Amino acid sequence: MKKKSNKSSITKKIAWSLVLAAKKVKNLQNDDSTIFLVSKNINNIIYKFEYNQEKKKVLKNNFILDSYITQLFNIFLPIIFNTKHNPYLIGHLAQTLDGYIATESGESKYISSQDNIKHIHMLRAISDVIIVGANTVRLDNPKLTTRLVEGKSPMRITLDKKNILKDGYDVFTNKDNNSFKIIDEKIKSKNSNIFQLPVINNAFQEEDIITLINKLNKRIVFIEGGGTTISRFYESGKLDRLHLCICPIILGKGRSSFLTKKESKLENIFEHSIAHYKMGEDVLCDVDLTRP
Ligand SMILES: NC(=O)c1ccc[n+]([C@@H]2O[C@H](COP(=O)([O-])OP(=O)(O)OC[C@H]3O[C@@H](n4cnc5c(N)ncnc54)[C@H](OP(=O)(O)O)[C@@H]3O)[C@@H](O)[C@H]2O)c1
Repeated sequence: MKKKSNKSSITKKIAWSLVLAAKKVKNLQNDDSTIFLVSKNINNIIYKFEYNQEKKKVLKNNFILDSYITQLFNIFLPIIFNTKHNPYLIGHLAQTLDGYIATESGESKYISSQDNIKHIHMLRAISDVIIVGANTVRLDNPKLTTRLVEGKSPMRITLDKKNILKDGYDVFTNKDNNSFKIIDEKIKSKNSNIFQLPVINNAFQEEDIITLINKLNKRIVFIEGGGTTISRFYESGKLDRLHLCICPIILGKGRSSFLTKKESKLENIFEHSIAHYKMGEDVLCDVDLTRP
């Protein structure tokens, strides 16, 4: 007869709290360990698990890992416990079946399902900094907070080299004083929420942005869009992971997800390693760009 498990089931909320607890463990243990022990006391019950980063697996746990929790851990723990890249850059795009992230006029609310919107808030909550391009602020006016989930809103940085975005956008009016811009170093500014970098060939170099992130001591960087910004990080080889959410709609025309240099010879293109997860009506492709 099969032995009955004495493990108890946990709610989605507790599972998410354990992901956030994992982030604290990694921050304390800032080294190249491969085994991480996560433990959290919730309502006088201690929940714990051991994560093996090399195997990308939860090995020991005192609660039931149902399909939801397994998916949640599979998506977030490899990012939190990455030991190779510091900072670790993750991009997310929600695109239509025909590869667009917005209509031609720039409307993108809401291409993806509510489950994916919540996923975006979760990505924000595990990140130390969010980066967005100027067009996303101009056209979406996002708040870039974690208001749908437990967890702290991280620092937000907008790439606005000409410093032309007005202060009234929602991202800049958040009361936590944690919204910043990167502007051209040649522009005079006394604003304390501004960083300055050289503009070379009409853009900041991704390498310079990463040097700045390192100086700020930030570890997980969430590039939230849009297509131009993510494509630049991808092309520079700095993007470690991409969450590409495929949504069951066809637009026909619109703003493309990827704006990379065209490569016409298939033999010069290499395959990425992906996992995929159902997310409401959408499918999330989890692309590990660090693996050949
Ligand atoms: N579906 C989704 O997942 C999703 C997510 C986010 C946004 N969106 C949509 O995507 C659209 C915006 O995307 P987009 O591709 O047009 O633009 P974007 O990536 O939001 O912004 C591009 C702009 O950001 C600045 N920028 C980016 N990288 C830079 C660099 N390395 N150096 C200097 N400046 C840099 C430049 O601004 P300046 O040229 O003005 O200096 C550039 O023109 C919007 O319609 C938005 O609704 C969709």
